[in-house]
Order: sequence, then structure tokens, then C-alpha cells
Amino acid sequence: MKIAVLAGDGIGPEIIAQALRVLDALKHDGLNFELEPGLLGGCAVDATGEPFPEETNKLVTDADAVLLGAVGGPKYDALPRAQRPERGLLGIRKALNLFANLRPAILYPELANASTLKPEVVAGLDIMIVRELTGDIYFGEPRGIEQRDGQRVGFNTMIYSEAEIRRIAQVAFNTARKRNGKLCSVDKMNVLECTQLWRDVVIETAKDYPDVTLSHMLVDNAAMQLIRDPKQFDVMVTGNMFGDILSDEASMLTGSIGMLPSASLDENNKGLFEPIHGSAPDIAGKNIANPLATILSLAMMLRYTFNQEDAALRVENAVKKVLSQNLRTSDIFEPGMQQIGTIEMGDAVLKNL
Ligand code: IPM
Ligand code: MG
Repeated sequence: MKIAVLAGDGIGPEIIAQALRVLDALKHDGLNFELEPGLLGGCAVDATGEPFPEETNKLVTDADAVLLGAVGGPKYDALPRAQRPERGLLGIRKALNLFANLRPAILYPELANASTLKPEVVAGLDIMIVRELTGDIYFGEPRGIEQRDGQRVGFNTMIYSEAEIRRIAQVAFNTARKRNGKLCSVDKMNVLECTQLWRDVVIETAKDYPDVTLSHMLVDNAAMQLIRDPKQFDVMVTGNMFGDILSDEASMLTGSIGMLPSASLDENNKGLFEPIHGSAPDIAGKNIANPLATILSLAMMLRYTFNQEDAALRVENAVKKVLSQNLRTSDIFEPGMQQIGTIEMGDAVLKNL
């Protein structure tokens, strides 16, 4: 099992280091991993001038899975668009054809008070957002900023083929099937033709999944319902841009972006696994970042790419135990808990593993 490890920028190296300690512990139990470090994002720009260098492309293409920390930082904000760290992320998604982005939003009972919403609204929350990741307005052509009639205009293209919609819908239906059998597809079909096609193709795909209950919601209403009554949702499926926005919103229901992992998968479940939070340059190097989202991303890797459900559960249970022992990094700290640092959080997970 070959894993490309891209620590990235900011807190990336610190949180990845803790995830690698967990991997190492599993190694002693017979799982055999080969780790290959590589550069992505700002650190790659510093070293090579490009956020997703050819060498990294080759590395991740040859690997079975990719573990990613986070990319970006204020230092790179002034660079031309093609050199920004975010471009590296979009580049790797496209290069590996990682069209299916799974973003779970789970509220651990121990963290019920960490959310800004009332505990009774969010207690027991367990949503899976399935976001299409390689299409939509993110990649559509034409795009640009140009002069028209004496002024600048900016434009992008929202576009989906039915094949792209069908394959993400299938992932979503299959995901719902393994959970509570409920799928909500989010679109804006009252205004956008592209998402009318989205709804049509999702309805067609539903014929193969009679056991899954399908509903549809307009994206503005979905944004509202996520705050009003998030527990009505089981699996949500949506396009790249709506998914970007709704998944950030859903993450905040759990109160702690530092807890949430993600998986981005291709047709064969090869994947890239990363915490959904960013590189947090303001707290980098201070041993205060929460490594749990990265450690939970590792669990998703074990589950989805390597089919090691037992090992995945072991990691997830170790994280739950740490929370029940009242150990907290500063992002999830509450009075009465014991505040610990990044490395100490890694220690605690290892101990419980
Ligand atoms: C995400 C991020 C990225 C996205 C950015 C950094 C390009 O917001 O993974 O959600 O928009 O997809
Ligand atoms: Mg985002």
C-alpha cells in the first residue's frame, strides 16, 4: 500500500506528523504501508515555482492513496492565479479524477456544547455531504476577465454532462444505502438549466436504487434547513460550488472545523484524504493545532481505499476515547476540560489505539 504524503503549508506538517504516528502504530500490527513524501501548495511554489509540480503529479499518480495536510498562506496571496496554492489542490483533484468528495459532519456527543447552535438542534448529528469535485463552474470553460464595450467583465461557466452527474449520483445513492437510506439532492433548478439537468439525471439514477428515499431541495432552502433542522438530513449530494459552501456550513454545525475529515475518490476508490480545514498560518508551529481531523482522514483512507474497516474503526474509536477522557486542543476546549497541544493529542490517540 503506497501512500503519497503531502504535508503542505502552515499547520500541515504538524498535523500530518501526528497522523503518521498513528499509521506507524498500525504498521506494527501488520498493515504494510510505504510512505512517499511530496510537495503541494505553497511549499511546492517555494521549491519549484509551481503549486503542483510534475514530480508530485508522478508521485501521486503512482501511489494508491494520498494523505494531505493543508495548503496556502498569506505569503502566496499576491501570486498570479496559476501559482496559487489553491491551484495545486484543484490540479491534483483533476489530475487524479477525484470526482467524489465525501465530507461527513458528525457531532461527537462530548462536543455538543462546541456548536453555536442549541445542543438539542445538533445533538446526534451525522450528515454525509457528497460533493462533486471535478466539474461545475470550478472548471467550466470559457472563463476569464476581459474588456467588453469599454469595461471589464468577469465570467465563468457552470457546466455538467449527464455522465458526470450520473457517476456522482451513484456514489451518493450507494453511500445512502450503507447509512439510513435517505438522499437529498441539492440544486437550483428554478433558475439554472445546468442544475435542471442535474435533477433530471438524479431522478433517472434513482430507478436503480428503489431502496433509497430521494428528495430534492433548492440550494438556498438547503442552506436554511441545515441551520433550522440539520438532523433531517442523512446524505446530501450536490455540485462542486454548492457543495463547497454547504460543506463549510455543515462543518460549523459540529462547532469545530478541526474535527472533520474528508475523502476525495476516483472511480476505483483511489483517493486523497485531507482535513477539511485550511493551513491556519496564524497558529502554525505553535503546537496548538488539532490533529484529529487529519487522523480521522487517515481512518477514511483505511476504509475507502484500503478496505480496512477494522483498522478504520480502531482509529475512530481511539479518537472518541480521547474526547471522553476530556482531552481537548484549544479549538474544542471548554472549561473543565484538560487543554493539550498537537503532539500531546497525538500521544493520547496512540495510547487509546
Ligand atoms: C475546499 C476549499 C477549496 C475549494 C479551495 C481551497 C480551492 O475551499 O476544499 O472546500 O473551493 O474546493
Ligand atoms: Mg471550501
